[in-house]
Amino acid sequence: MRLASRLAHVEESATLKVTRRAAELRAAGREILSFGAGEPDFDSPAVAVRAAQRALDDGFTRYTPASGIPELRRSLADRYAADHGAPWAAEQFLITVGGKAALFELAIALFEPGDEVIIPTPCWVSFPDQIRLAGAEPILVPTQAEGGFELKADPILEAISPRTRAILVNSPSNPTGGILPAAELEKLVRGAAAAGIYLISDETYEFFLYDDRSYASAAAWAKRFPETVVLVGSFSKTYAMTGWRVGYAAGPSEVIGGAARVQGHATSNPTSFAMVGALAALEGAAPQVAEMVGEFAARRDLLVAGLNELPGFRCDPPAGAFYTFPDISGLKSHGLESSLEVTEFFLEEASVAVVPGVAFGTDDHLRLSFACSRANIEQGLQAMRCALVRRIG
Ligand SMILES: Cc1ncc(COP(=O)(O)O)c(C=O)c1O
Repeated sequence: MRLASRLAHVEESATLKVTRRAAELRAAGREILSFGAGEPDFDSPAVAVRAAQRALDDGFTRYTPASGIPELRRSLADRYAADHGAPWAAEQFLITVGGKAALFELAIALFEPGDEVIIPTPCWVSFPDQIRLAGAEPILVPTQAEGGFELKADPILEAISPRTRAILVNSPSNPTGGILPAAELEKLVRGAAAAGIYLISDETYEFFLYDDRSYASAAAWAKRFPETVVLVGSFSKTYAMTGWRVGYAAGPSEVIGGAARVQGHATSNPTSFAMVGALAALEGAAPQVAEMVGEFAARRDLLVAGLNELPGFRCDPPAGAFYTFPDISGLKSHGLESSLEVTEFFLEEASVAVVPGVAFGTDDHLRLSFACSRANIEQGLQAMRCALVRRIG
């Protein structure tokens, strides 16, 4: 018996491997401090919880239209029109089972063998594998660590070939926290349109910005370039609703229609009452989001300051998302050669879980999430410091 050949280049994600090893150690009685989480540790907004509970009480438990409930599509259309002047009608929003499904369905609908999709790296682990699962080839374009991994348009546009079908960007970025500045976004949007390819913008972390940075959304360009701008969003991170599994895609009718056809044969609608909760969050959870972002800002400062005190570490404060992405190449001279070795070292010697940079396309970095309590951050840093002092002296 064999698996389909399309799985040959798709591996279990390194993040899941680390999570599993941490779980094994926990099961063996070790207390593990984790910086691994890719999800806010806050409760989902009360308005969302109450709305979903009411929906359940009211028996809203059957199939809905496969592309999602019309009220949520309409509300998203209103929000993007109000916030970014986007021209998208409600029908141009597809509600999906998380942002992940939106990206996957777009990949299946748009790409095929022989196609290339440009992705700046370091990037989220699923981007390249989703492209490969669609049979296409991810073209990885490294971004510079200097300047906090800010995305630059030129190297991305230079990678366009006759086979390129799309550019896939993610700002603020998982794993770097880097952002795509407005001027670079404009260049990318224009460059993609000129080349007749899609610009797919994953804005899963849109509200998580620090130091008064303003947000540049690709949605703001959809009116000007309605044929090529595609947006992916999610309720997971922005509203602390990871387990609800509600995300969305927006863009040209043809593209959204294609992804909807895939969804119609893959998941059908996202969970009915979860969509009702998402709608309530969209319309009433702004205060909780602001509170969450304020707390993340304080945790970011705490973690960045602590990391910069560790031998061999160098960490710029991330502009957005909730991840730090320190350079750990300084540890090589102490016999810790790769990000995986460093990760194993901290897990075994400090009982601290981090994520190796190699999972995201760079071996000189680690990812540490600050979606965990301040106490976790302080204790984790202390344990890492002790382990390094034991090792390095
Ligand atoms: C960059 C990025 N995009 C999309 C997702 C998908 O999230 P979800 O499927 O929970 O909406 C994630 C989750 O980690 C992410 O980091």
